[in-house]
Amino acid sequence: MRNETFYVTTPIYYPSGDPHIGHSYCTVAADVVARYKRLRGFDVMFLTGTDEHGQKIETLAKEKNIDPKTFVDEMSLKFKKLWQTFCITNDRFIRTTNKFHKKAVQKIFLKLYEKGDIYKGKYKGWYCVPCESFFIESQLVNKKCPDCLRSVNWAQEEAYFFKLSSYSKKLISFYNENPNFICPQSRKNEMMSFIKDGLQDVCVSRSSFSWGVKVPFDDKHVIYVWFDALVNYITALGYESGNNSDFKKFWPADVHFVGKEIVRFHAIIWPAILMALNLSIPKVVYGHGWWLSDNSSKMSKSKGNVVDPVLLCNDYGVDAVRYFLLKEVPFGSDGVFSFKLFLKRFNSDLANDLGNLFHRCSAMVEKYFPNGLLDEQEPLKHDDSLKNFAKSTSTLVEKNLDSFQFSFALSNIWELISSCNRYIEDEKPWDLAKDQKKHPRLASVLYNLFECLRIISIMLSAFMPKSAMTIRKQMLLDDKPIIWEDSKNWGLLFKKFSIAKGNALFPRIEHKNKQVFSNL
Ligand code: MSP
Repeated sequence: MRNETFYVTTPIYYPSGDPHIGHSYCTVAADVVARYKRLRGFDVMFLTGTDEHGQKIETLAKEKNIDPKTFVDEMSLKFKKLWQTFCITNDRFIRTTNKFHKKAVQKIFLKLYEKGDIYKGKYKGWYCVPCESFFIESQLVNKKCPDCLRSVNWAQEEAYFFKLSSYSKKLISFYNENPNFICPQSRKNEMMSFIKDGLQDVCVSRSSFSWGVKVPFDDKHVIYVWFDALVNYITALGYESGNNSDFKKFWPADVHFVGKEIVRFHAIIWPAILMALNLSIPKVVYGHGWWLSDNSSKMSKSKGNVVDPVLLCNDYGVDAVRYFLLKEVPFGSDGVFSFKLFLKRFNSDLANDLGNLFHRCSAMVEKYFPNGLLDEQEPLKHDDSLKNFAKSTSTLVEKNLDSFQFSFALSNIWELISSCNRYIEDEKPWDLAKDQKKHPRLASVLYNLFECLRIISIMLSAFMPKSAMTIRKQMLLDDKPIIWEDSKNWGLLFKKFSIAKGNALFPRIEHKNKQVFSNL
């Protein structure tokens, strides 16, 4: 057992509306990595949570005539529940309204103020409430927010600033010394040009609303929601918030998964704050793409084009949704979420390739060997190519998962599934079954197929935990721990292997579900 650690995070989500499939994307990706690393013996810390302060939340609560805390209590629960539905194995769930977090934010703010990295000045500029972001005139696009293209408000007030401008050079040398810090490469180029254009100091306090963490030495001001949010990655580990043994153990983070529009905060502001605190910088910030609706606009609550993940999981199963999210597009690119595409993937990859393979193999063992495969088997030389391919697949999956290439890792697994389906066509077990003398060969063919399925179940368990368990249950392996190294070994099943009855893994979808995809 190795004792290396692995720390993976998602953004903390604004609980300003119900979670949608776009939010689920990042959390599912982080869950796959966390499960995979655990299988490989890492001591994993997987953090997610909700980002509960700011003007947007304050306004929404006011509209509903409730206090902001009541509002976020209710909304944050929805995220927690959704992660249960999605079988997410986060170790912690941080809420920025947690007392320990608020205290730590104040301590960090004070530390930077005392060091001179935070100073008092006057803010003049444009503010986008939905994005909780400040912009100078030249950053606006047609006088609108450059991120969400909505209206911005003029703001002018006394405020505290973080000296981001003095970190430009340090950031550039950090990027050069750590070429894999920002992924994918295209995002790194964006950040480089951003810095080269010149970094402005960041306004890190507001005084026009009160729903936030108070500046500890000046309670007319609340701390800017992004400052409050970014430090969650360290406060959740106990930094300035009690016992810091987890901070010592897990920091720096191995990877922050974030959407492409917030890479800027994580790859520029966050490392600069960490540099100011003399702390190490995370190893990777991975900016994933957006899910777009059929008409190619970003799926978002305000546009009313979101897909409800709960309805989707109820109708088609959590694993199918997890699979679609990670297979449909390379991690880093945008993708279209439409029923047509979901249906196509479901029926071809899940129902036809994997579902049929498992169903055909199980049905043959049940029918031809109800008491278990024959002891006497007849392996042939050419079986080696399937066997060797199966044994080598997990090395390919490792390479892709270690670089967060989920769609390619799934393609590796699916190549093995296709090889198994081809092997069935080539070996024609139904013909072997007709002749009693050929039953040892038939047993050997089925044994090989189930060895492949055993290996597939291990690799799939990070992506599709429920289906992997269903396969293992029918193979009577459910009481055995899943061990990643077993995916590299052949011959672990009993020779007299038998199977339990079960239902189809992924029954084909024939109908169109209007409710889930009404807008698409
Ligand atoms: N609260 C901040 C993050 C602070 S992290 C220190 C925030 N919250 S958010 O709820 O607006 O967005 C959270 C994440 O969800 C972002 O990474 C964003 O990219 C992602 N997504 C929201 N809609 C999305 C899609 N339609 N598609 C993919 N991801 C999307 O930003």
